[in-house]
Amino acid sequence: MHLQIILGSIREGRRSAAVAQWAFEQASRRTAPTVELIDLKTWALPMFALAKFPSEGDYADPLQRRWAETVARADGYVFVTPEYNHGYTSALKNALDYLYAEWNRKPASFVSFGNAEGARGIEQLRLVCVELEMAPLPTAVHLRDVTGKSQDGRFAADAKEVQRFDVMLDEWIWWASALAKARAG
Ligand SMILES: Cc1cc2nc3c(=O)[nH]c(=O)nc-3n(C[C@H](O)[C@H](O)[C@H](O)COP(=O)(O)O)c2cc1C
Repeated sequence: MHLQIILGSIREGRRSAAVAQWAFEQASRRTAPTVELIDLKTWALPMFALAKFPSEGDYADPLQRRWAETVARADGYVFVTPEYNHGYTSALKNALDYLYAEWNRKPASFVSFGNAEGARGIEQLRLVCVELEMAPLPTAVHLRDVTGKSQDGRFAADAKEVQRFDVMLDEWIWWASALAKARAG
């Protein structure tokens, strides 16, 4: 079972980097799944402008092919994204738009924060996941006061948030395992 934690903010000085690192460390405490942190900033995907529809699966662009190979090796995703204008980040939408089949039939869970704990952005993200044939899961982690709980580039969640993350991960593992078996036929 392989989990990718995808960090949606690419902004200079982003707070989400510490949150994604925290999520990575929380997930890594378990014996399974294996966990990988994917930072969209290091990918620097240009704004999607390729001729072919990703849903056709004919990826001519070398960077798109590398992105596809990376996303394909996961059994599901945890998206860590802040709320931007009541949505999620454009960098994350762009990264999602680049591919199609690689996202299909895999679970997606969510970690966010903001004025409404990032709830509005995650609701939008769930709808997009449905279109990409992911299984967006109900339990998300909505963090409070990320700024106050961050120091020297490290984020420390409170006990309730840690517990919520574990519940979310249990749910993710159930669905990732069920869907991996189903994909294998
Ligand atoms: C373009 C932009 C739009 C934002 N819109 C919202 C918003 O709608 N709701 C909210 O709670 N916070 C909003 N914020 C505040 C961010 O959620 C907050 O600054 C957060 O730290 C951004 O995550 P990042 O530092 O990882 O980029 C916005 C920030 C930016 C840069």
